[in-house]
Amino acid sequence: MRIAVTGSNGLLGRATVDLLRADGHEVVGFDVSRPAGPGFVKVDLADYGQTLDALLGVTARHSGLDALVHLAAIPVNGLVPDATTFHNNMTVSFNVMFGALRAGIRTIVYASSITAMGFPFEEAPPALPVDESYTAANNTYGLGKVLEEAMAAQLVRWHHDTSITALRYTNVVPADGYESFARAGDPTYRRDLIGSYVDARDGASAVAVSLRHRAPGFEVYNVAAPDSGLSIPTAELAKQWFPGVPLTPGGEFESLMSTAKLQSLGWRAEHLWRDEYRG
Ligand SMILES: NC(=O)c1ccc[n+]([C@@H]2O[C@H](COP(=O)([O-])OP(=O)(O)OC[C@H]3O[C@@H](n4cnc5c(N)ncnc54)[C@H](O)[C@@H]3O)[C@@H](O)[C@H]2O)c1
Repeated sequence: MRIAVTGSNGLLGRATVDLLRADGHEVVGFDVSRPAGPGFVKVDLADYGQTLDALLGVTARHSGLDALVHLAAIPVNGLVPDATTFHNNMTVSFNVMFGALRAGIRTIVYASSITAMGFPFEEAPPALPVDESYTAANNTYGLGKVLEEAMAAQLVRWHHDTSITALRYTNVVPADGYESFARAGDPTYRRDLIGSYVDARDGASAVAVSLRHRAPGFEVYNVAAPDSGLSIPTAELAKQWFPGVPLTPGGEFESLMSTAKLQSLGWRAEHLWRDEYRG
């Protein structure tokens, strides 16, 4: 497929571009940071004119696309003022999704977040593990993610052959970023993430699986490693963090973020901290 990846210079974007190219796809990256190079276009996706033009074609880069992978965003609150996070992310997501549909692209996979489902979990979720049915935002970044999901769910109704997949990533860990797992025995470690994590390479393979699946309509999938990032048994953590919340029993260290739905598409995380951490 001919695929554009927005946010291609970012953590998840770099891993995704590498994987999709290795799988034989023609990939063009769109990002505002750093100069353009082979296979990359510098585009400010907050500008609809630039976005639509880049989606329709870019001389020496591409002349039409089959799919859009949208990963560009300010990835957390705190980097810029809260309203700026919201404005950038909402505007960019509207521009790329609406622009892609205008340009005739009918397959979109994009990054949502655990912040659309309760992060930092000061309020207990209704049940554990947390699945895709729970939606709650507690900051402007999360609010954007919730509204993007609502927008995507409506946009697919406008063109019946459209497939939009939202991947609710938990905290993404780069291949060389496992030092913090030295704290795995501390019950406050990753408490705001309900203990979850996912390797960037597995985050990229979630995109690849979603592109292969591309069923018409809108679907949300959690993306997390199947195990928790802590060395404390999950049942103990659940009792300590969320007393009284029902827990469906699973493995001793099973993640409190359910990925059964994505696993039903054949996705498997291959990079677990218990193998990657060199403490
Ligand atoms: N990193 C995580 O732990 C995490 C967790 C959950 C969800 N996500 C989501 O995954 C996606 C990728 O996150 P990441 O960690 O790779 O972030 P990142 O900051 O490493 O990369 C994001 C990229 O988006 C680009 N970008 C932002 N605004 C842009 C604009 N207006 N025009 C063009 N490019 C723009 C940035 O230049 C950057 O290269 C985001 O949607 C993020 O919200 C990330």
